[in-house]
Amino acid sequence: MADLATTYLGLPLRSPIVASASPLTREIASIRQLEDAGAGAAVLFSLFEEQFVPNRPAENGRPWSALARDSFPIDAGEFAIKPPAYLDFIRKVKNAVNIPIIASLNVAHPDRWIQYAAMMEQAGADALELDLYTIPADPMVPGVEIESRYAEIVTAVRETVKIPIAIKLAPYFTSVAAVAGRFDEIGVNGLVLFNRFYQPTIDIEERRIVTSLELSDSYDGRLPLMWIAMLSGQVKADLAATGGVHTVEDAVRMFMAGAATVMLCSALLRNGIPYLTKIRDDLSQWLDDHGHTSVAEVRGVMSLARYDNPEDFKRAGYAKVINRYW
Ligand SMILES: Cc1cc2nc3c(=O)[nH]c(=O)nc-3n(C[C@H](O)[C@H](O)[C@H](O)COP(=O)(O)O)c2cc1C
Repeated sequence: MADLATTYLGLPLRSPIVASASPLTREIASIRQLEDAGAGAAVLFSLFEEQFVPNRPAENGRPWSALARDSFPIDAGEFAIKPPAYLDFIRKVKNAVNIPIIASLNVAHPDRWIQYAAMMEQAGADALELDLYTIPADPMVPGVEIESRYAEIVTAVRETVKIPIAIKLAPYFTSVAAVAGRFDEIGVNGLVLFNRFYQPTIDIEERRIVTSLELSDSYDGRLPLMWIAMLSGQVKADLAATGGVHTVEDAVRMFMAGAATVMLCSALLRNGIPYLTKIRDDLSQWLDDHGHTSVAEVRGVMSLARYDNPEDFKRAGYAKVINRYW
């Protein structure tokens, strides 16, 4: 059987299939099941500041709160977990399983990023995933300012903790590559592409916002696939694919683009945790069938840097595709 062992954020993983932050990583029992099913690592659900600091005041007139306001899909009342409970959860999970545990953090104020990152490290997290999920809706705040704040936060956390850090990014930057490059320079160990934005809809009869969360399908993988292919070889940080990985083919595509790991969420919520074992076994089988002895042999073979027609990824590819449609 092909070797699935890999390294992510400097951590040795027995498999490149990782459970991403979700309700399945909120309980010790389900994290155990994920380990038994073959997950290489688990990213815990995020500690969201909004859940323990309600109605955060604006700070010195700077719109930190505006940055993050309205951005949280979770009803704090229902799911609220406070930092001490989260830290306790990390300790318990670490005692319960052997796979690496990546704690996930999403706060707004820079001091609290540092504070909680340090506490998560102390609680025994093997790595941190910084979930830079904000919806910058203030027309007076330019993108460059938001990117600088992100860089400030990431720099501060990098200087505070010794454990590896991954950044879970949104795809909505003028230049995803430049933002990724900046984080890379700061010394992050991984980039997780991409955070899926919560997109509410409108009930036109009731005239109210409907806040349901749709699971992804394979097509959602195209955006991370493209950016992983573009960034692979251009940044030192490991690239993790999150979004739209539902089948072994989806996973193989991500590895060919250059992903170190693929993360599963919707596929497991839809099909149950044992589905992870199927994807892992299908991956071994696929590698065997195609004459490969390890995932490393296919990693990055279809990255932009190694592809014969790099323009297919870019503007020229788009022009070609729309012309073909006619
Ligand atoms: C119900 C649910 C809860 C989630 N909770 C978190 C979370 O706490 N932190 C986080 O960074 N991402 C969270 N996510 C996002 C997932 O980790 C993942 O990045 C996203 O769903 C895309 O992957 P998928 O296509 O495999 O679902 C959540 C997703 C879902 C569907």
